[in-house]
Amino acid sequence: MYIPAWPVLNPTSLFKPAGATIPFPLGCPGSSYFYVARNGIYHLMKSLVSCGVGVPAGSKEAAQAAYRRDADGGPDAQKAEPLVLVPDYHHGNEIYALKAAGAKLRYYPVKKNLDVDLDAIADLCDLEPKPLALYLTHFIGWPQPIIEIQSLCNRKNLILIEDCALSFLSEFEGRPLGTFGAYAVFCLYKTVPVPNGGVLVANNAVNPGTTAVRPCSAVSVTGPSIDLILRWIRSRNEFFGRALLTAKRAIGRTLTGANVRRLPIGDTGFDISNVNAGMSPICHTLLGRFGYEEIKERRRRNFRIVENLLRGNVALVDKTLNDGVCPLFFPLLVKHKQIAAASLAGRGIETVEFWNSGDPQSHQPGSSAEFLRRHLLELPIHQDVTPEAAEYSAKEILKLDVGLAA
Ligand SMILES: Cc1ncc(COP(=O)(O)O)c(C=O)c1O
Repeated sequence: MYIPAWPVLNPTSLFKPAGATIPFPLGCPGSSYFYVARNGIYHLMKSLVSCGVGVPAGSKEAAQAAYRRDADGGPDAQKAEPLVLVPDYHHGNEIYALKAAGAKLRYYPVKKNLDVDLDAIADLCDLEPKPLALYLTHFIGWPQPIIEIQSLCNRKNLILIEDCALSFLSEFEGRPLGTFGAYAVFCLYKTVPVPNGGVLVANNAVNPGTTAVRPCSAVSVTGPSIDLILRWIRSRNEFFGRALLTAKRAIGRTLTGANVRRLPIGDTGFDISNVNAGMSPICHTLLGRFGYEEIKERRRRNFRIVENLLRGNVALVDKTLNDGVCPLFFPLLVKHKQIAAASLAGRGIETVEFWNSGDPQSHQPGSSAEFLRRHLLELPIHQDVTPEAAEYSAKEILKLDVGLAA
């Protein structure tokens, strides 16, 4: 059995007719498309730093940005750095992009159930300097308490930026995540098999990223596209697929040796020289062809299979699969992340170790974020995982005894 961590690309997708509907934020007038989501985050923050460029004059966001500048006072007002509230549990790429754009960050705590701590956020809003924006991450498909957060943002005069990098296709009460804030970012390649793709959407403002993008090189698209197809082959024929992937990696090493520059994907870091790279045309084509309702249904089905087998046997993150949630992974609590990941890999189950580190400035010994960094492992339940494979994963977790005790 081989269960890939991420969705794989069935090559027939390339030849399918376009589907009837595409979900938010695809095709929206306020969307701009980048090679990776962090490029969009950078452009958004840069525009807010430089006094609300990209937000219409007279809009709430422009007024807030101007207020922050003036609050700093004097002739140096233009140099004021906007302060953004950000979660202490984070990937790192979003943080590096915000910092590179000139934002100052103030960390707020995320609880063990992956919800943000609203009381702590409210308190942090009252410290000086007052924050300009709240950066809110919807973790692995679950909505944050968005209605309460919207009202807090209104009360405290904060621009709400939703990070939906892990929550494409998820909804709250019938409304897509990413439509509640002034801005939202998405990372498409985490949910669907495209070789790259991040979106910045501006809901009621001019998108600050639309003029920035330039096409990425063909060689940057070819490698990840082939990788997605080879993983699809491997999920059908372990021996053949593995051999092809090994050969592909050797070609990659040769290209690297010959200094053929490719843009990385799925990496950690922020490279300002790549910040204008756009999503490749093949992604636009593929995105029109996926069956999004089926993707969501399969993810929810697999989540339930794993949950039913694990409940009562290992500790579970306190999350309910409410209507509208499209889970990115099954959040598996394990005793030891690296050992669990290696043991499961030995049984053909690839997992993702979100997020072992993060900005050292955010670290608080004993915090829930530290607990999550140590114990939360992401188990694949995506659309290419069959019900049998989901059941196999859950049974192997129990057999290997890697789960945190219930
Ligand atoms: C929560 C979150 N936000 C933003 C990003 C940035 O996404 P990308 O890698 O597409 O730049 C990531 C992943 O890297 C992430 O996990």
